[in-house]
Amino acid sequence: MRIILYTGKGGVGKTTIAAATGIKLAALGYKTIVISLDVAHSLRDAFDNHEKLVHQHEEKQIQIKENLWIQEINVQEAIVEYWDDVYNYIRSLLNRSGLDNLVAEEIAVFPGMEEICALLYINQYVREKRYDVIILDCAPTGESLRFVSIPTTLEWYMDHIFKLERNLARVAGPVIERVSSVPIPKDNYFQNIQDLFDKLEGIDDVLADPKITTVRLVTNPEKIVIKETQRAFMYFCLYGLCIDAVIINRVFPDGVDAAYFEAWKQTQQHYIKEAVNYFSDVPIWKVNLFAEEIVGEQGLHRLADVLYAEIDPADRFSNASPYQFEKIADAYQLSMRLPFLSKEEIGLTKHGDELIVTVGNFKQHVALPRSLSNKKTTGAKLTGDRLVIKFQGEGDA
Ligand SMILES: Nc1ncnc2c1ncn2[C@@H]1O[C@H](COP(=O)(O)OP(=O)(O)OP(=O)(O)O)[C@@H](O)[C@H]1O
Ligand SMILES: [Mg+2]
Repeated sequence: MRIILYTGKGGVGKTTIAAATGIKLAALGYKTIVISLDVAHSLRDAFDNHEKLVHQHEEKQIQIKENLWIQEINVQEAIVEYWDDVYNYIRSLLNRSGLDNLVAEEIAVFPGMEEICALLYINQYVREKRYDVIILDCAPTGESLRFVSIPTTLEWYMDHIFKLERNLARVAGPVIERVSSVPIPKDNYFQNIQDLFDKLEGIDDVLADPKITTVRLVTNPEKIVIKETQRAFMYFCLYGLCIDAVIINRVFPDGVDAAYFEAWKQTQQHYIKEAVNYFSDVPIWKVNLFAEEIVGEQGLHRLADVLYAEIDPADRFSNASPYQFEKIADAYQLSMRLPFLSKEEIGLTKHGDELIVTVGNFKQHVALPRSLSNKKTTGAKLTGDRLVIKFQGEGDA
C-alpha cells in the first residue's frame, strides 16, 4: 500500500504528472486511484475527452481503464456523506445571523473542510485496502500543507477543546438558549464530530510512515519556483512527511537551439544545478517541455515513459523519516530535519507531552514519546539541516 502526494507551486505540472503516474502504475498492474484535492479540479481535463468521462458519471470514483480510477473530491457531496449534523449546525448559526440560505450553505464549508473530506476518503480506502496505490494531485503548496497538518490539529482540538465544549454545551446550553438567540449545538453535533474523528483515526500515522506515504515536489527550473520548492521541502519535513523525489518539469530540451531561447536555457541550467545542490539527498527527475500540451491518455503515456523510463513509481526513493528520537549516552534527543532555515526562524515550546515547533505561520505539535514527556528540554541546536533538541530529567544527569 502506497500513498504518493504530488505538490508544488501553481501551474508547475502537478496534475499532469499525477495523471501520468496513475497511467504508468495501472499499466504495471497496481490498482490505482488518482484523487484530486484541488478545488479547482482539472484532473478530468488531463484525460481530455476520455470516453469514460464524456458521459456524466454519477459515481465518485470513475474507472478510466483497467486498474485506474480517478476521483475529484466534491466537498458538498462528502459533507452529506460524513458531516451532516455539523454542517447543519453551522448553517443554522449563519442563518440566524441574517445570511440567506444559499450564502450560508457556501460559507458553512469552512477552510480545511475539503482537506478533511479528502482525508476521510483516503482513510476509508486505506482501511478497506481498496487500492494498491493512492496518488494525490494536491492543490498548490500552501493548501497541501494545511492538508497534511490537519490530522495533528484535529487531534489537538479533540484532546484540548472538544471535551470541554461538549460538557459545557450539556451543562450550560439550556440556560444560554433561554437568554440568547444563538443555538447551542445538540449532543448529536458532538457525536457527529466524535464519529468523524473515529473515521480519521490512524491517518496521521499513515501519513507520517515513510514506508507508506511519500511526497514528490514538482518544480520548474526558475528562481521563484525553486525558492518555493525549498520552503515546501522544509514545511513537509516540519509536518513529519518523507519527501522521496523532486521533479523538475518543463526543461528546455537540448534540441531547442533557436537563439531566442538561449538565455532561457542558460537560466534553466543554472537553477537545475542549484536544485541538485539543495536537494542532494533525494533523486531529482527531469522532464522536458513537450512540443505541445500534454492532454489525453496518449500524451500522459508519453510523459510517464520519459519520467519513469526504467523505474517503478510505486517504489520509495528515500526512507528517511524527518523525525528521529534517540537515546545517546544518558540523554534523549529528538532530531528533526529542517533544512534551509536559520535558528532565528524557529520557535520552540514544550508543553507537557508535546513539543510545539513554529516556523513563520506554521505550527507543528510534535507528540513526544512517553519516555520524554516528563523530561525537560536542556538545549536545542541547529546543526546542518537538522534541529537537535536534547532532553533530560531528574535522575538522568
Ligand atoms: N513538460 C510539459 N510539457 C508541455 N506541457 C506541459 C508540461 N507539463 C505540464 N504541461 C502543461 O501545462 C499545463 C498546466 O499543467 P498542470 O495542470 O499539470 O499544472 P498544475 O501544477 O496541476 O496546475 P494547478 O496549480 O493549476 O493545479 C497543462 O496544460 C499541461 O498540459
Ligand atoms: Mg492541478
